[in-house]
Amino acid sequence: MLRTTNCGSLDITAVGQRVVLAGWVQKTRNKGFMLWVDLRDRYGITQIIFDEERTPKAVLELAQTLGREFVIQIEGEVIERESKNPNINTGAIEILADQLQILNPSSIPPFTIENETDGGEELRMQYRYLDIRRAPVRENLIFRHKIALAIRNYLSNNGFIEVETPYLIKSTPEGARDFVVPSRMHHGEFYALPQSPQTFKQLLMVGGMDKYFQIVKCFRDEDLRADRQPEFTQIDCELAFVEQEDILKQFEGLTRHLLKEIKGVEVGDFPRMPYEEAMRRFGNDKPDIRFGMEFTELNKLAQGKGFGVFDSQELVVGIAVPGAAEYTRKQIDALIDWVKRPQVGALGLVWVKCNTDGSYKSSVDKFFNQADLQSWAAASDAQAGDLILVMAGPTQSTRTQLSALRMEIAERLELRDPNTFAPLWVTDFPLLEWDEESQRYHAMHHPFTAPKPEQLDLLDSDPKQVKANAYDLVLNGNEIGGGSIRIHNTELQQKMFDLLGFTKEEAQAQFGFLMDAFQYGAPPHGGIAFGLDRLVALLGGKETIRDFIAFPKNNSGRDLMIDAPTTIANEQLEELALNIRPIN
Ligand code: AMO
Repeated sequence: MLRTTNCGSLDITAVGQRVVLAGWVQKTRNKGFMLWVDLRDRYGITQIIFDEERTPKAVLELAQTLGREFVIQIEGEVIERESKNPNINTGAIEILADQLQILNPSSIPPFTIENETDGGEELRMQYRYLDIRRAPVRENLIFRHKIALAIRNYLSNNGFIEVETPYLIKSTPEGARDFVVPSRMHHGEFYALPQSPQTFKQLLMVGGMDKYFQIVKCFRDEDLRADRQPEFTQIDCELAFVEQEDILKQFEGLTRHLLKEIKGVEVGDFPRMPYEEAMRRFGNDKPDIRFGMEFTELNKLAQGKGFGVFDSQELVVGIAVPGAAEYTRKQIDALIDWVKRPQVGALGLVWVKCNTDGSYKSSVDKFFNQADLQSWAAASDAQAGDLILVMAGPTQSTRTQLSALRMEIAERLELRDPNTFAPLWVTDFPLLEWDEESQRYHAMHHPFTAPKPEQLDLLDSDPKQVKANAYDLVLNGNEIGGGSIRIHNTELQQKMFDLLGFTKEEAQAQFGFLMDAFQYGAPPHGGIAFGLDRLVALLGGKETIRDFIAFPKNNSGRDLMIDAPTTIANEQLEELALNIRPIN
């Protein structure tokens, strides 16, 4: 062993021991006759001291040459420190070194490797291995490990078996584009990387595995955001002989277990909210219910009063912002500018101040009198001192815009407390959504999701109205999991493919294997997948999943460290019979 202990464990009780430590030089302080090194490893930092009186001359001289991030080994005696640091475990001691070996020198690192660093995000991603030496990043990875372990244990203790499914498959539609892999042995043919193991886990149910899980990489070629990576990890689960209620109970149990185990937080029964209600009350299918500011539809009260901006619109809807009546004109204008940004895309915002003297002041005083404004305030449960913000337009886009504003205001008012956990099941999603662009229905969840059995008739007459046996688990405004009860008979699956615009031949070519399998005694089954990266980030109090992934990609899907994607050699292209040439 190159060390007898690590840099995080020696305390006052170790005084007098001889120890060997190895690690990285975080920092040196050199006074000529005396030199201190902060020696770092995964476990912490220990202060090493070299001095003229007590350290052999050659060792002190060698210590004078140490630079940041040199890898060294020292041997010496644990002594009590004069000026103690109460903030770290090892703050009461230091090691008086009499031996020093440089195991590997280091170039000057491109950013400081300390808790607070001067490195920008892109630079830190390029040198991710150095970033991982920093405690905040390291702690996030350890945190992720703990959660993954707790999940594995919980599921295993509940009778689930982890089964690995292949990565080189053909398309499993989850609504994104596939990453594809050309085949050398079958020119012109491609594998797709799984967007999820969806079809395989269903086949495992046909195979009688009964309760499956897998902590598994999934790949989706889609636009990236703080909570999306092109490759990410799911906790993928499937169960046979279950109904929706069984699945919700089981995974509510898992989530509650994690909140308790990891955060020490106890939560009661998770509330459930049908999709339509979530859209109506929060404008969003993943509402953050840690705070109010619920939507109030004002069509009846605000239309037909001569205000053209409202009159012709499908939806007039508002939120009451607590205590914001005192906002200045400038603050309100800033909110209006915020909603007009292309990212939100609203045309504007009508405001009503509910003054503390009981009067109202609004941006539309010309059209609405005090009684009108009071009726809005009453409808939206606005109190004196609140500010009502109103938008109008087509239902869907207006809800989306007002929901973005609601979240932004909550952020500014610090209502999104990362230490409060408010889970919620959103249920009864529509089975299908109409896509204007392609003039076809798309599966809202995926094409294997079962319709509500009592609505099967509607599939022919009014497919848009059909609800799915599908559910999402939402935590603090983030979708952390989604699943459904599946179709398990060939005819219904075929019908679903018909509705989605597949010809019989296309459906057979792409999913014949699944429909075949359903002919051989497929049990009723259903499941769910959690996004592990999102779950870990949220439990860690953040919403950016990159921080909890060892080697993440940047917002344009690049790995800046290894520089991928890249072009490949012509020989390789030829071998794969890809006669395309990369641009430039
Ligand atoms: P879904 O597509 O809802 O369902 O995915 C499940 C969960 O995975 C997470 N997630 C992501 N996390 C990071 N980056 C991404 N690009 C990304 N995309 C999704 C989300 C999401 O809730 N096969 C179905 C599950 C099932 O029906 O059992 C599926 O994949 O947290």
